[in-house]
Amino acid sequence: MATTTRTTAARSGTSTILLKSVMALTGLIFVGYVLAHMYGNLKIFAGAEAFDDYAEHLRTLGEPLLPYAGLLWIIRVVLLASLLLHAYAAFSLWSRAGKARKSRYAVRTAGRALFTSKAMRWGGVALLAFVIFHLLHFTTNTIQVNGDFESPAQRVISSFEVWWAVLIYVVAVLALGLHLNHGIWGAGMTLGLNTSARAAAILKGIALVVALVVVVGFLAPPLAILLGVIP
Ligand code: HEM
Repeated sequence: MATTTRTTAARSGTSTILLKSVMALTGLIFVGYVLAHMYGNLKIFAGAEAFDDYAEHLRTLGEPLLPYAGLLWIIRVVLLASLLLHAYAAFSLWSRAGKARKSRYAVRTAGRALFTSKAMRWGGVALLAFVIFHLLHFTTNTIQVNGDFESPAQRVISSFEVWWAVLIYVVAVLALGLHLNHGIWGAGMTLGLNTSARAAAILKGIALVVALVVVVGFLAPPLAILLGVIP
């Protein structure tokens, strides 16, 4: 009996580590993408033409080895696969934590830890909703906020002349910042990078700096457009 209980616990323990590792690795793929995307968006400060050139360049990169937009499609497939794995691992860990809480041996989670885990879960769901809205807005051009434009730069500039569109992006980017701050820290813990108090402090610092860079970098274009800094 004791052996069975130990074996079951060991098995579920292993898969919890596997799920957390999947979350950490796919999360780091998102961090790389988000940093590159944020940097690319800053091209809008160089003018509409520079931004459109950049958008076109993303599609011709890797030619003639790859077909037109080939690299973009590779990135899209990697992102979609990472998203499915990240969401699957998140929901599995979520339901496991729910079941554990109902167990009569459950130890009550401290208030702050419970708040953080709830914020990560619902923040993740909100980010997923935002990404769907964002793809319909800028990639497929299905949601047109302020007119129909062929040029990506014109779509960005016209959209962010509308205050509520800016508000949606501000809320989403702040949610992303909070998610990244805790997510990078959690990924570092899962990957065993907190080998000492100093290493843990450095990890916390890196998570905070990356989150701040992402928030400031993503918010600069919409706010500059709304305030008329970018004509
Ligand atoms: C103010 C903030 C943002 C702006 C101005 C912006 C702008 C854009 C634009 C213009 C495109 C279309 C690119 C093209 O088709 O050439 C795009 C695509 C995309 N953005 Fe953003 N973005 C912002 C924030 C974000 C955030 C926070 C995320 C992720 C959480 C994100 C994820 C994506 C993804 C996944 C695509 C699709 C790439 C593709 O498959 O073509 N973006 N964005």
